[in-house]
Amino acid sequence: MIQGTDLDPVAVWLANVALAAECLPFVAAAPAAQRRPLPEFATVGDGLDVPAEPATAVVMNPPYGRVRLDDDERARWSHATLGHANLYGLFLAAGIEQLADGGAMAALIPTSFMAGNYFQNLRSFMVDSAPLREVTFVEARSGVFAGVLQETCLAAFAPGANRSLTQVGSLNGRRVQVARVPSPANRGPWLLPRRKSEASLAATASKLPSTLAAAGWSVSTGPLVWNRRKADLGSRRSGNCVPVVWAADIDGGVLHQDPARDLVRWLKLTGNDERVLVLDEPALFVQRTTAPEQSRRLVVAELGDADLDRWGGRVVVENHVNVLRPCPVSQISRQLLHGLLRSDVMDRVLRCISGSVAVSAYEMEALPLPDAVTLASWEGLRGNALDQAIRSTYGARP
Ligand SMILES: C[S@@+](CC[C@H](N)C(=O)[O-])C[C@H]1O[C@@H](n2cnc3c(N)ncnc32)[C@H](O)[C@@H]1O
Repeated sequence: MIQGTDLDPVAVWLANVALAAECLPFVAAAPAAQRRPLPEFATVGDGLDVPAEPATAVVMNPPYGRVRLDDDERARWSHATLGHANLYGLFLAAGIEQLADGGAMAALIPTSFMAGNYFQNLRSFMVDSAPLREVTFVEARSGVFAGVLQETCLAAFAPGANRSLTQVGSLNGRRVQVARVPSPANRGPWLLPRRKSEASLAATASKLPSTLAAAGWSVSTGPLVWNRRKADLGSRRSGNCVPVVWAADIDGGVLHQDPARDLVRWLKLTGNDERVLVLDEPALFVQRTTAPEQSRRLVVAELGDADLDRWGGRVVVENHVNVLRPCPVSQISRQLLHGLLRSDVMDRVLRCISGSVAVSAYEMEALPLPDAVTLASWEGLRGNALDQAIRSTYGARP
């Protein structure tokens, strides 16, 4: 991993290398003759503490998981957290702080820090302090992390204003070079190709001037958390009831009523549901999670005026669905956005933002778009003509 940096190989051996402390009793229990001696520089301690001396290299396979911070810890890590904190994000921030001048950090970590909403401050801190120099996406995860579905990468970071490129690779038995791209330089989701075939698409898309949010569309998750409302869900319409849109109703990209949801089709409204839950205007729906084997990550369906009439004029959307609505002034019509999100190109762009099966509202709002003039010129296009215009603007090879 550190090959791409200017590190002296000897310095790497003098680095801070984290070993699982819970392995020490197993090491101690092994017969002395069979024990492999620990390196002399090994110490036991809290990896988040400030070390006595800065390190030339930090190499880590940090712990993952959401962590609750007390007020002091929240203040300590405020430069690298936003909302929920993840332990591996704290380790990345600590590792960067521990680096000596000219040092580098390598980490085996999930890729969520590259795109997640809660990692915006960490990305800012990295961009300012130790930009991403090399990333290798781990393709074959079975045997590496048992039971882990998250996309994982080996990433190297190093300070230095003169180093502005990031080497991107993928690992499936052996490392394959994918692309050399400008180092990500913003706090928004980073767009990085996972495969060679997406290198030009990622490079072109990351230079586009706008985003879905900037073009006047908001994305939010469906507000109904069904398991908190089991008692109010049923198969029959009675009293003040509204039909529920479930993720399964969007399967195949056309809004329909999946018979498997018949028993929970209607929600009885109570309290302030009318204001908080009910959607009574046209929108687009995008599934929030897709199965790993599914060919598309972006599964989108339209709730047009006619659909809304068919559903009785009002729906409640369940929280496995993203709801896309136009702001009062938007640069892109619902019909065009529908066509764009259904395109093969946007699906591939999303995969350069996130390798996860989840499609978050935050990542959707950050989808790169061309300027308003180009969007306006696409308004009348349909089918092949639209696909062709999208492909050429996004630099997508077929
Ligand atoms: C994903 S495991 C990796 C273990 C080891 N580095 C390896 O590569 O096999 C993460 C390790 O971090 C340790 N850990 C958790 N919190 C820590 C902390 N604050 N300081 C140091 N180690 C910690 C855990 O006990 C666990 O062994």
